[in-house]
Amino acid sequence: MQIIDGKATAAEIKKEIAAEVEQIVAQGGKRPHLAAILVGHDGGSETYVKNKVLACEACGFKSSLIRFEDNITEEELLAKVRELNEDDDVDGFIVQLPLPKHIAEQKVIEAIDYRKDVDGFHPINVGRMSIGLPCYISATPNGILTLLERYGIETQGKKCVILGRSNIVGKPMASLMMQKRYPGDATVTVCHSHSPNLKEECQQADIIIAAIGSPHFVTADMVKEGAVVIDVGTTRVPDASRKSGFRLCGDVKFDEVAPKCSFISPVPGGVGPMTICSLMKNTLSAGKKEFYK
Ligand code: GUN
Repeated sequence: MQIIDGKATAAEIKKEIAAEVEQIVAQGGKRPHLAAILVGHDGGSETYVKNKVLACEACGFKSSLIRFEDNITEEELLAKVRELNEDDDVDGFIVQLPLPKHIAEQKVIEAIDYRKDVDGFHPINVGRMSIGLPCYISATPNGILTLLERYGIETQGKKCVILGRSNIVGKPMASLMMQKRYPGDATVTVCHSHSPNLKEECQQADIIIAAIGSPHFVTADMVKEGAVVIDVGTTRVPDASRKSGFRLCGDVKFDEVAPKCSFISPVPGGVGPMTICSLMKNTLSAGKKEFYK
């Protein structure tokens, strides 16, 4: 059994990106520039954005943090999005979610120029991904693909069961695992809260990607000997022994499932650290105009 180390993989990739950026700059190219819009003071969002800015520094990117109070109007926010769309110095940008309730998130996402949408949330990027065209792939699915690749995990012809059908993980993961290339070419089954035979499906799976947000949902009796298990769960459970007052709990009962696996990703330290790394990969692609001119 091998534990998939997302933290080490993410660190390795950031180093590779930094080396490539220095080469680009040494050859007279432009340093990639990521801008992030943060509205309000949500604790989780503050932490995410801070970590994104730090990751930009580690990769040698230029970063700009644009802050607004949570009483900003939708029109003011859309005006800033349009300004960043037009700003040639900004290669890619994100609007940190969630937004205050009076702002329509989808409207903001769709206002972002898809060529700068390094979050991969714009319907053009989602659509291009689903038909296998070059595009920005969102952070979590992108991180999972990178882990499968880096660990040389075989996917062709494998039975892959995805638990959860969310727009941010389940659906894109299904589409990516069935695409005609590595890592893909798998036979994909998506199970969710209305699947009557979820346990039996898992028992037959070569690869399980658990993204249902239900702590310890996947137990040893659901997993085939030698299976690959990717845990995307990040439920916060109260933990008085932590400074933060909580700890992250995965969808997989790690201690009993791990001995049966060929590969397993833990929580924390598996998929989680890969998400910001995916954003950095997309920002590098944006800087290089890899997908769109
Ligand atoms: N909030 C939580 N995750 C994300 C993310 O990946 N991108 C943005 N923009 N907001 C988020």
